[in-house]
Amino acid sequence: MNKSSIAVFVALIAVAFMGVTTTTLVQSAEKKDPNRFNRLMPPKDKRTPPVAEDGIHDPENSGVKVLQEPKEAFSVLVKGKGGNYVDWVKSLNKKKISPLYDLDDPELVPMTVDMNIVREVKGTMPDVVFPHEQHTQWLECNNCHPAIFIPQKGANPISMVDIMLGNKCGVCHGTVAFPVTDCRRCHSKAKPMKTSKKSSAKSNKK
Ligand code: HEC
Ligand code: HEC
Ligand code: HEC
Repeated sequence: MNKSSIAVFVALIAVAFMGVTTTTLVQSAEKKDPNRFNRLMPPKDKRTPPVAEDGIHDPENSGVKVLQEPKEAFSVLVKGKGGNYVDWVKSLNKKKISPLYDLDDPELVPMTVDMNIVREVKGTMPDVVFPHEQHTQWLECNNCHPAIFIPQKGANPISMVDIMLGNKCGVCHGTVAFPVTDCRRCHSKAKPMKTSKKSSAKSNKK
């Protein structure tokens, strides 16, 4: 064998091995759960795992045993549709939780602003209503202004792709707030009905 045919031979063996390992991996994953294709929808028993198994906390740390298990804590809160399956807005407003607004000053209460911003959406999806009230219950103005949004209606181009990529609303929604799968919670304002064909035909004649 000359040098180049050895190289080809080695490459062929490598490809053969890769083929074997990928098929084995796919098969073993399938064996576990044949319908597991959407990482946004873990099966019910896999949601809100115990603290020691959540991949966030160090299971070796003794503090892990002191923390309350999320499943237990969430069981008394208002249920939601996605993410960790808690409706945090309703849970807060029904006083199921009363988080401290400031760690150093327990007396401090949030300065909420009741101002809705409607963003008209082209196409058939209902328009988006951004409520300041529900946000300022948890957040300060400077969590969003001006780094994520310039405080001026319409000044910030936003698209669904942006959001899915983790920008604009997607900085929080899908990470620390309800996920993008809950379309109607943002797209909550029905569009005004279009005038029927008949009447518009009439007005065209005039
Ligand atoms: C979670 C993010 C967020 C927080 C927190 C937030 N805002 Fe906003 N704000 C927005 C968005 C989104 C818009 C709309 C921007 C657009 O349409 O391009 C907006 C718009 C505004 C506007 C422009 C309104 C208009 O009609 O032009 C003002 C003023 C404003 N915010 C003030 C505040 C103040 C004051 C606070 C704190 C009390 C605050 N915002 C907290 C996201 C936020
Ligand atoms: C966290 C809030 C939020 C959620 C959840 C959300 N959207 Fe959006 N969506 C927006 C905003 C904001 C815009 C931009 C509106 C504008 O043009 O100002 C938008 C725009 C759109 C548009 C217009 C075209 C585009 O890409 O910008 C479509 C279509 C759309 N969304 C579909 C969906 C669907 C389907 C879902 C559920 C799978 C969804 N959205 C969930 C906030 C959201
Ligand atoms: C800085 C973080 C942050 C950003 C950016 C953000 N949100 Fe939120 N949003 C939250 C939090 C936190 C909540 C309350 C907790 C929850 O509902 O998960 C919330 C709640 C909401 C609610 C209230 C739903 C209800 O049940 O009343 C809507 C609607 C919403 N967000 C839409 C948007 C839209 C649209 C954008 C972008 C224009 C956006 N948010 C940007 C953090 C954010």
